[in-house]
Amino acid sequence: MVLGVSGGIAAYKALDLCRRLGDLGAIVSPVLTPDALRFVGALSFSALAAQPALTSMWDGPVSPHTTLGQGADLVIVAPATARTIAAYTHGLADDVLINTLLATRAPVVVCPAMHTEMWEHPSTQDNLEVLRGRGVTVVDPGVGYLASGDQGAGRLADTAAIVVAAESILGSVRDMTGLRVLVTAGGTREAIDPVRFIGNRSSGKQGFAFVDECAGRGAVVTVVTTVNRPVPAGVTVVTVESAAQMEATVADHCGAAHIIVMAAAVADFRPVHAAAAKIKKDPSTTDAPTITLERTPDILAGLGAAKPVGQILIGFAAETGDVAHYAQDKLARKGADMIVANDVSLPGRGFDTETNEVIIFTSSGGVHHVELSDKRAVARAVINLALAAIGTDIERTVARRHGG
Ligand code: C5P
Repeated sequence: MVLGVSGGIAAYKALDLCRRLGDLGAIVSPVLTPDALRFVGALSFSALAAQPALTSMWDGPVSPHTTLGQGADLVIVAPATARTIAAYTHGLADDVLINTLLATRAPVVVCPAMHTEMWEHPSTQDNLEVLRGRGVTVVDPGVGYLASGDQGAGRLADTAAIVVAAESILGSVRDMTGLRVLVTAGGTREAIDPVRFIGNRSSGKQGFAFVDECAGRGAVVTVVTTVNRPVPAGVTVVTVESAAQMEATVADHCGAAHIIVMAAAVADFRPVHAAAAKIKKDPSTTDAPTITLERTPDILAGLGAAKPVGQILIGFAAETGDVAHYAQDKLARKGADMIVANDVSLPGRGFDTETNEVIIFTSSGGVHHVELSDKRAVARAVINLALAAIGTDIERTVARRHGG
């Protein structure tokens, strides 16, 4: 595996990434651009990696870039500066890293890191779009402190997120082969009239992290979602809008599922009647219309009541206090095998964040805390528990592999 490091302040984080990849058993060959060497030393990478760091085309054997590029199973570029992204996109082979990138047919993961203005610049975004179109995986940067104290988007993605991207490309863990997983994602929209709805702040990010995790581990995945996000090849996506549509679609797919992950934020109430035409302001009065609400079907509770033997049903509890109490109550009331609970009033947790911190309550009495981490890591922890509950006995594994 080649770890390409280009010249940004986040280059120091690539040292940690280098060590983590090595810990996971990767033979890492670091390749540093001349500008990367202004931020970090080649010796540090050579000490941490399996192979000495390559910093130039001219210091060692002839053609080091083709040897490395041809031999690599994966190339990760972290951090990838705007210049490195542009040079790679346009084939401008002016340093050892771009030469290596052009000399490889291995999958490539690009992890941009730069100031917000540079990240948002159309040149950078257009270049990344071209790279994505060529099959390059882009691990988007996060939001936070940048060099020189500025804040905004452009911070190198967490090491864990980069490792996950690498793992899923290399397909190192395929322990869900033969399992069917149904995931719900996003917030439902309940129509008031043709232009207005009652919604919520769910982004679908946690649900899609489950999709990525399960598909990456070999499961057959269906996602019923209110939001459109990219999915791995082979995943079935059914787009819905309201709780009623989600209920009907889930009913169509639930029977075949070994694991159901109900990550969607389903509305609890909806207008009794959705107006056929846009509700207009009445100029003759200052009165506002009254919208009468009714309860929506509780999809999770319905699934819990009719759950086939062996199916693992996972619900969520987004609370703003007393999380454990509500989660444990929900576990029993909804007939779920697991409730993944989080306090959405805390920063970095819950709706529309890249990260989450959860406590997983299981029907067998288990309580598992997942510290603040990216949503994919949360998904992995939940799925690991689900697989442990399903059991790993040989007969079941054999039956699964034969479509049972
Ligand atoms: O009762 P509460 O809405 O807090 O429960 C949350 C869990 O129940 C989530 O897993 C959510 O997807 C599910 N839910 C549902 N149908 C509803 C409301 C919530 O399936 N109408």
